[in-house]
Amino acid sequence: MTAKRTGVGFRAILSGTGHCVPAAILTNAELERRVSTTDAWIVERTGIRERRLAAPGEKASDLALVAAQRALDAAGLAPEFLDMILVATVTPDRPMPAVGPTLQAALGARCPALDFSAACAGFVYGLSLARAQIESGQAQHVLLVGVEVLSRRVDFTDRETCILFGDGAGAVVLSAVPAETGRGLLHTRLGADGRFADILRIDADEGVIRMEGREIFRHAVNRLTEVIEAALAETGWSAADVNLVVPHQANLRILEAVAKRIDVPRERIYANLERYGNTSAASIPIALDEARREGRLADGDKVLFAALGAGLVWGAATLVW
Ligand code: ACO
Repeated sequence: MTAKRTGVGFRAILSGTGHCVPAAILTNAELERRVSTTDAWIVERTGIRERRLAAPGEKASDLALVAAQRALDAAGLAPEFLDMILVATVTPDRPMPAVGPTLQAALGARCPALDFSAACAGFVYGLSLARAQIESGQAQHVLLVGVEVLSRRVDFTDRETCILFGDGAGAVVLSAVPAETGRGLLHTRLGADGRFADILRIDADEGVIRMEGREIFRHAVNRLTEVIEAALAETGWSAADVNLVVPHQANLRILEAVAKRIDVPRERIYANLERYGNTSAASIPIALDEARREGRLADGDKVLFAALGAGLVWGAATLVW
C-alpha cells in the first residue's frame, strides 16, 4: 500500500479476505441420530443444513492461521508489514496465552497481537477497533480474524443449541488509503446491554452453551434493525443504496425478518449459513470472503455489516468496497 503513516485523512479498506473451515461436515441427518429433531424442523426454523466440525486436536489458532494466510495472499501483503493482529474469539486454544500471539509467531509477523471477546458481534467490534488504529495513524495494516471452535462448547444432547453452531475462521486485512479515494469503512456503530447476559452464556463450571432461543431471536431482530437504521442514517445512506448486506449468520429467519423491516430485498442479503451454521465471530468474514470470491462485490459497492451476540453486544458497519 502507498499510504504514509500520518493518520490524517486516511480510511481503512479491506485489502484482503480469506477463510478456512474444517473438513468434517455434520449434517442435519447425523443430528437426527443424536437428538430428537428432524432435518425438516432445522431447515424450516433456522435455514441450516450442515456445519463444520474441527478435528480432534484442531485448534482455533490452526484455523486462524490458514484464514489469515489466505487474507494476506489476497492483499498481496507480507506478514512483517502488519502493525496489529486482532483476534475475535470466545473459543481460544487455552485461557492463556491468547490466540493472537500464537498466530503472530506462526505467520512470522512482529506486531502487537491480542484476542478480544464480543461473541457473535466480534467481527463488527473488531472492524471498529481496527478502523480506530488506522484512522489515528497508529497502524497502516491490521489483520482482523474471527475464529471459533464452538463444537467444543456445544452440549450435543441439547437439541435447541446443538443444531445451530459450527467451527471456522475468517480473516481480513485492513489497510490505510487516503480518504479522498472514497473507499473503505465509513462508519461503525456499536452497542451493548449486559442486563441480558444470562440469555446466552457459557458458565465456567458447566462449560457449554446455554440459551433462551426465543428471547435471543426477539432481541436479534429488534437490535439489528435499530443499529442498522442508525448506522445507515449516520452514514447518510438509505437502505436502497446498499448493494450487499453481509450479516452475522445466525438464523435465516432472523435475516429475513431484519431484511423486511429495513426494507432491503432478500437477494441483497448474503447468506451461507445453510452450509456452516452459526460460527459466531467467524461468520461475517467467512461470508465476506465467499461473497468476494463469487464476484458479489465490485469496486464502489456500498456494503453493510451487522451482528448481535452474547453480552448482549451488537453493531453495524458501513463500507465502500
Ligand atoms: N428439533 C425439534 N424441535 C425442537 C428443536 C429441535 N432441534 N429445538 C426446539 N424444539 C422444540 C421446542 O422444544 C418447542 O417445543 P414445545 O412447543 O413443545 O415447547 C418447539 O420446538 C418450538 O420452540 P421455539 O423455541 O418456539 O422454536 P423457535 O421457532 O423459536 O426456534 C430456535 C428455536 C431455532 C432456537 C430459535 O429461537 C432461534 O434461532 N433463536 C436464536 C438463537 C440464536 O441465534 N442463537 C445463536 C447465538 S445469538 C446470535 O447469533 C444472534
